[in-house]
Amino acid sequence: MLDLLVKNARLPHCTQCCDIAIHDGHFSEIAPQIDALASRSIDAAGFLVSPPFVDSHFHMDSTLSYGQPRVNESGTLLEGIALWGELKPNLTVESIQERAETLCHWAIARGTLVIRSHVDISDDRLLAVQALLEVRRKYAAWLDLQLVAFPQDGYLRYANNRSNLARALAMGVDVIGGIPHFERTMAEGAASVKALCELAADHGLLVDMHCDESDDPWSRHIETLVFETRRLGLEGRVTGSHLTSMHSMDNYYVSKLLPLMREADIQVVANPLINITLQGRHDSYPKRRGMTRVKELLRSGINVSLGHDCVMDPWYSLGSHDMLEVAHMGLHVAQMTGTTEMAAMFDTITINGARTLGLKGYGVVAGNPADLVILQARTVQDALRLRAARLFVIRRGQVISQTDPVMPNLHLGVQEHSIDFML
Ligand code: FE2
Repeated sequence: MLDLLVKNARLPHCTQCCDIAIHDGHFSEIAPQIDALASRSIDAAGFLVSPPFVDSHFHMDSTLSYGQPRVNESGTLLEGIALWGELKPNLTVESIQERAETLCHWAIARGTLVIRSHVDISDDRLLAVQALLEVRRKYAAWLDLQLVAFPQDGYLRYANNRSNLARALAMGVDVIGGIPHFERTMAEGAASVKALCELAADHGLLVDMHCDESDDPWSRHIETLVFETRRLGLEGRVTGSHLTSMHSMDNYYVSKLLPLMREADIQVVANPLINITLQGRHDSYPKRRGMTRVKELLRSGINVSLGHDCVMDPWYSLGSHDMLEVAHMGLHVAQMTGTTEMAAMFDTITINGARTLGLKGYGVVAGNPADLVILQARTVQDALRLRAARLFVIRRGQVISQTDPVMPNLHLGVQEHSIDFML
């Protein structure tokens, strides 16, 4: 007998509905019709059934700290970094863990079951590393949390970060981070990229750097990251996060850069909510959007995924950890409103994210772990347009979150209408 049978499911990029059989925590069969007995059956009623959302870039140590000790009034990246510095002395393992666990609950309710979180290692006590390793362990049954050792105050700019990073890796952090545009000079930024990539090659680890997160059209750390990736044979294992300077770069230079990025199989993560908020703050009008060139990167065959980056922290006052909101903003900022472009944008929060993180067994495919989300939408376009309700979130064949359909009832005189906002 099956553990769970999902009937009438519409998978992304499929026009026909199918049934999904789940046994022993894994997808056992996906076919047009399955009539086997099951302990539990859910009728998806033609709604979209997606693999869980993947948040490719987040900061779980600072999340939900909004207002502590004050709010970022300028809205700039640099005031955010300064504000985080003011908060850090007052952090405890318990307070970080409590906020991170609340965020995990929000993410699960929104259908996100995979998060790559950067964790600041610039605090010599490594309290955030301790807290997030514990959260990773405690929530492993429900959510995959990948941790990046992130030297927020600079790998070379803050001298202790070399030893702090080594300690964080020894404690069990998965990925090597960096922030070359925050080092003291362009040369030191490039040196940090070289050193961190060599460390990753030595340890057999992935790399994910905050790279060129500025409006400076001359920031060239992505070029160095591409070069080091090729030199060290790290193709496919290195991520450039943000890359907002690419928005401002000269078009001719970008035409040379894109094929080099493709050649090195660089993974790109854009963070639309944060990029549109933090970048362009020094502009009057016209005001740059700041997000990297998502459309052109995808067209060049480069894997692009999206991150939420922040929820209610020193850099961003808003958010509820909703990856559909991220993709919704992303398609507006990138002007990816064509049908195939919107479908591609949905991929950036699902399969592309899985590729960035190097996940194995991701996707609604027979043999994979049975993780899925049933959305109150019939197409990916409607899922994005409505930021559709996540009716069921299923992990290893178990329902771990359930939401009632959004269905307002109108009372217009003698007329009664139930509406679902779909044609
Ligand atoms: Fe970030």
